[in-house]
Amino acid sequence: MTNLFDLTGKTAVAVGGNSVLGGAMAKGLAAHGAKVAVVGRNMEKAEAITKEIENSGGVAKSFQADVSDLESIKQVAVAIEEWAGGWDIVLNAPGKNSTTPFFELETDEWDDIMDVNLKGLVFTTQIFAKRMVEQGRKGSIINISSVSSTTPLSKVFTYSASKAGVNSVTQFLAREFAPYGIRVNAIIPGFFPAEQNRKILSPDRIESIMNHTPMERFGEPEELQGAAIYLASDKASGFVTGTLLRVDGGFGSMTI
Ligand SMILES: NC(=O)c1ccc[n+]([C@@H]2O[C@H](COP(=O)([O-])OP(=O)(O)OC[C@H]3O[C@@H](n4cnc5c(N)ncnc54)[C@H](O)[C@@H]3O)[C@@H](O)[C@H]2O)c1
Repeated sequence: MTNLFDLTGKTAVAVGGNSVLGGAMAKGLAAHGAKVAVVGRNMEKAEAITKEIENSGGVAKSFQADVSDLESIKQVAVAIEEWAGGWDIVLNAPGKNSTTPFFELETDEWDDIMDVNLKGLVFTTQIFAKRMVEQGRKGSIINISSVSSTTPLSKVFTYSASKAGVNSVTQFLAREFAPYGIRVNAIIPGFFPAEQNRKILSPDRIESIMNHTPMERFGEPEELQGAAIYLASDKASGFVTGTLLRVDGGFGSMTI
């Protein structure tokens, strides 16, 4: 019987694979056979995810890069190629957030968030996808968006704008890369407690999130693994590109 979710022989670059959600997805890809390059700004966290993968019998290596510094992404791409020869799957998971009210927002903060969430994702993808095309490798790019990308969330203005950009870029690149056999999709996670949103999750906000989540709970990071493995696998999702896949407990289907 064919295993539609077997990633044996594939290499995945998990940018932001040291994050709570990116780490869970990196572990999921590794558990299904992919060799994983865990790329993070914080090496300690990247090493921890790498160790977890190795302890479960998987193959991984940590690499340091800052997506707002494109030189570091170029260097990390060279280092990953030396390690694995190339890659078939790219997960774009870094993220930055803030709750500054609109009239207090300054350009530096806007730039800071956009540099990671949108510009960083665009140019990271450019660097990794270009090499895939040069090597004639087909594969899958998975961008991590947010429920705020389609219906803006209160407080997180810049973040919402950046994630709306991620959706647009995902669909644009799906069309652009289709001739090369590279699929581009995004996952739209609902609410999962993590580092970047800890300070935003006040008791009032949690109540309002629960009131708008039909399943009335937060997601567990491991609940994103199925979506990531599905989108990574050419056998499972070979005709799927330009899709924005919700894993949100129904948040996006709820009005009042
Ligand atoms: N947690 C949620 O509820 C939720 C919901 C929707 C989307 N997301 C998205 O999931 C992704 C992972 O976030 P998380 O929730 O696991 O939070 P997290 O705080 O664990 O991860 C954020 C990661 O981004 C990395 N990062 C920040 N700036 C960077 C830079 N310049 N270069 C490289 N890495 C950088 C951080 O080091 C960290 O690993 C983000 O894209 C986030 O927007 C999270």
